[in-house]
Amino acid sequence: MAARWRPEGIDHVGIAVRSIAVSSRLYAQLGVEVGPPEHLPDDAVSAAFIVLGAVRIELLEPLGPEGPVARFLVRRGEGIHHIAFAVGDIVQALEHARHEGFRLIDDVPRRGAHNSRVAFLHPKDTHGVLVELVERAAS
Ligand code: CO
Repeated sequence: MAARWRPEGIDHVGIAVRSIAVSSRLYAQLGVEVGPPEHLPDDAVSAAFIVLGAVRIELLEPLGPEGPVARFLVRRGEGIHHIAFAVGDIVQALEHARHEGFRLIDDVPRRGAHNSRVAFLHPKDTHGVLVELVERAAS
């Protein structure tokens, strides 16, 4: 039977950059403002958000030579890193993904930017696109 569960929309698109400061200057030239960076030690990155209408873009800069984004930059260079689905209940979303046979990078949600709760699906099961699930903090 077709799944009834579905994401609420796109929460953001994640882009791996070597330097948020350098990228911010480029986006400023395009008339786009980048928000203040936030350290996310769990992911070994600093993250800063661009809000463009209904769409958010997350710039990810590695905090050091280790970690998934640092490895991504070595392997693939700067560019789109992941797409994030907004979900109402991340525990339920993970349960659904597991039930549908997806391998999970995160079995349990962890803390993302702005006190959100996030989890990643394994890109081998999503045709090479890293998918993040995001439950935003209640504001
Ligand atoms: Co993200």
